[in-house]
Amino acid sequence: MKKNTLVPFFSLILFVSYTPFFAQQQITDITVVEDSEAPIINKHIYGHFAEHLGRCIYGGFYVGEESVIPNTDGVRNDIIAALKDLNIPNLRWPGGCFADTYHWKDGIGPLNERPEIVNTWWGGVTEDNSFGTHNFLNLCEVLEAEPYLSGNVGSGTVQELADWVQYTNFKGTSPMSDLRRENGRDEPWSVKYWGIGNEAWGCGGNMRAEYYADIYRKYATFMSDADMEGGIYKIASGASNDDYEWTETLMKNIPRSMLQGVALHHYSVIDWGAKGSDTEFTEDLYFKTMQESWLMNELIEKHTAIMDKFDPEGKVDLIVDEWGGWYDVQEGTNPSFLYQQNTMRDAMIAGMTLNIFNNHAKRVKMANLAQTVNVLQAVILTEEKGQKMILTPTYHVMHMYKVHQDAKLIPLSFTSPEYTFEGSSLPAISVSASINDDEVVHISITNIDPKKTNTLTLDATSLHIKKIEATVLKSEKLQDHNTFDNPDKIKPTEFKNFQLKKGKLEIDIPPFSVVVLKGSH
Ligand code: AHR
Repeated sequence: MKKNTLVPFFSLILFVSYTPFFAQQQITDITVVEDSEAPIINKHIYGHFAEHLGRCIYGGFYVGEESVIPNTDGVRNDIIAALKDLNIPNLRWPGGCFADTYHWKDGIGPLNERPEIVNTWWGGVTEDNSFGTHNFLNLCEVLEAEPYLSGNVGSGTVQELADWVQYTNFKGTSPMSDLRRENGRDEPWSVKYWGIGNEAWGCGGNMRAEYYADIYRKYATFMSDADMEGGIYKIASGASNDDYEWTETLMKNIPRSMLQGVALHHYSVIDWGAKGSDTEFTEDLYFKTMQESWLMNELIEKHTAIMDKFDPEGKVDLIVDEWGGWYDVQEGTNPSFLYQQNTMRDAMIAGMTLNIFNNHAKRVKMANLAQTVNVLQAVILTEEKGQKMILTPTYHVMHMYKVHQDAKLIPLSFTSPEYTFEGSSLPAISVSASINDDEVVHISITNIDPKKTNTLTLDATSLHIKKIEATVLKSEKLQDHNTFDNPDKIKPTEFKNFQLKKGKLEIDIPPFSVVVLKGSH
């Protein structure tokens, strides 16, 4: 075991150590890498995404002011409270694929004058536009979250998007800011984050990267920076998975001054043709989902390498604005509504992925889990006919990890023990660590191995840690999940399986669990 001889927190040495009782278990050392330029973990990595899709907005967030469910301007108070408790840093809206069909002027003004539209991407359902720009931006204010608006490039116009920026951001007199005032809002909302289209290579218009790069330049030109102190933050519709050529083409053809972020979408889906059940899955399917989730690490590294080539100063950020698990919908629900349950498997995806993002905080500055309520890897599920709401295991992971928001990364180096299944293997352990302004250290650990406990020892002497507290998220079965009848089956509990002796911490990480340690003076 190495001696801790370096200066304060960068001298942290972590060891995931061998437990001698089990001969087959591996020994793994985790060491902190000294790096005086370690990045801050941008809080926006913990962002969310809400699309007009299924029961995310309508029947999820938004129940209308007349609802018997307690609400604020039509948005459920229990959802607001839960998201505030998560310190939700940003919310992306209105899509997704829906964004490139959305004409924002349909969603402002008197309710009875708003047109009914058909949601062509998600089930062909008719919606009445009762949830629009004011509702969303006011909600973000209530949540104290930054709005991230996805502009319509696919079926919209340059003028329409330029007008949206003026409507939301312009202080003075102008056609759009006057219209905003007529609709009851005097002060601009000052929206900083703007996506210029979504999945331009697919539902956003099936464009080629070269063509989209030009289109991007055109739209960006007319979105006024002057309306926003410091300018607006423009995000290009990014690659799907390993489409490195897409990233390369955007980085090559869009001037740095016009581009603040490039997106990336990656879902943990085992097979688009046979995604498998959300709650009934074998270890084979679990392993495949973990493989897909771990791929995020490689994708970020390879897209980052391309960005480094064109932007060595790191001015353009990588924005993973859609990620999460994607399975078959719950039986009996509309296949286009993407409603799925959320099990311990999802907790593993979340714990591992957030560790990956934290450890790549130098380039990854924002991420958005898909999607907040009732869609895909949701943090909140609501009853379709009743009034109940539940928090999912993914919610609890995001809650446990929120301590990393805006804290300084403590880089780690280690070789994880392997989780082996039928001859293939994956790193069983993912870890990330940070130190906040109060010098409190947090270490988040996810053990995806469904059978093995991994033992970790931490030399905490240099951290001057006097007190350690820990929480764990675990359950008996991987398939376990919270239900409306048993909402607290899975929730974080105090974790006591550790010992702090003479500055050395020993901890056992149970199979398929997430543990977060807090070390304070
Ligand atoms: O999140 C669901 C959909 O997945 C989004 O609308 C789209 O951008 C992606 O393909």
